Amino acid sequence: MTIHPSSSANVVWHQASVTQERRERLNGHRAVNLWFTGLSGSGKSTLAHAVEERLHELGCRTFVFDGDNVRHGLCGDLSFSIEDRHENIRRIGEMVNLFLQAGVIALTAFISPMRSDRQRVRDIIGDDAFVEVYCRCPLEVCEERDVKGMYKKARAGEIKNYTGISSPYEEPVHPDLILDSGSRPLEECVEAVIRLLRERKIIEQG
Ligand code: ADX
Repeated sequence: MTIHPSSSANVVWHQASVTQERRERLNGHRAVNLWFTGLSGSGKSTLAHAVEERLHELGCRTFVFDGDNVRHGLCGDLSFSIEDRHENIRRIGEMVNLFLQAGVIALTAFISPMRSDRQRVRDIIGDDAFVEVYCRCPLEVCEERDVKGMYKKARAGEIKNYTGISSPYEEPVHPDLILDSGSRPLEECVEAVIRLLRERKIIEQG
């Protein structure tokens, strides 16, 4: 857990007696953040929910944060400019940090196109707890899928700053895991995540 200096001089951190470590012991697994990043339509949400299903079956405490949902509430005031995406990811990072203190495995599905923003989350929650999962899916495949019809609108110029079309996506340089979500079956990708969590002793073996 990382504690950050408060911007307010008159706020004092209250230390909980039920600590993250005690919660982790009770839960029987570590609290980490599985950070799914990739283009819109690359399968982040589908993967995050499928992994959550497996973890739930294994008795883990989990929660999925999804870009489309969070942007209806907590981040409903933000646009898709680079600055607002930056603020979007900052808020998510801080929220995830609280969930980690609560002992939960947080699965996040955000495009999070900028390397520096993802690095910032890593800095907020700590290197050990940040597991970056790159959902690698070619733009052509995402565009072909076009589940929400957004790419078509973006190509027609009806949506501005659309990631992959008129706004950049910076691929992770050293992600913890790469999933070829455009070509590999969902179940295979889920297994790869579960294997990594076991290898790193985040969840129990067996
Ligand atoms: S992020 O870039 O700030 O990380 P986020 O994951 O929260 O994005 O939201 C992405 C979702 O918003 C997409 O799945 C898509 O449905 C919708 N969306 C609407 N406008 C845009 C846009 N200009 N660029 C990307 N996604 C957009």
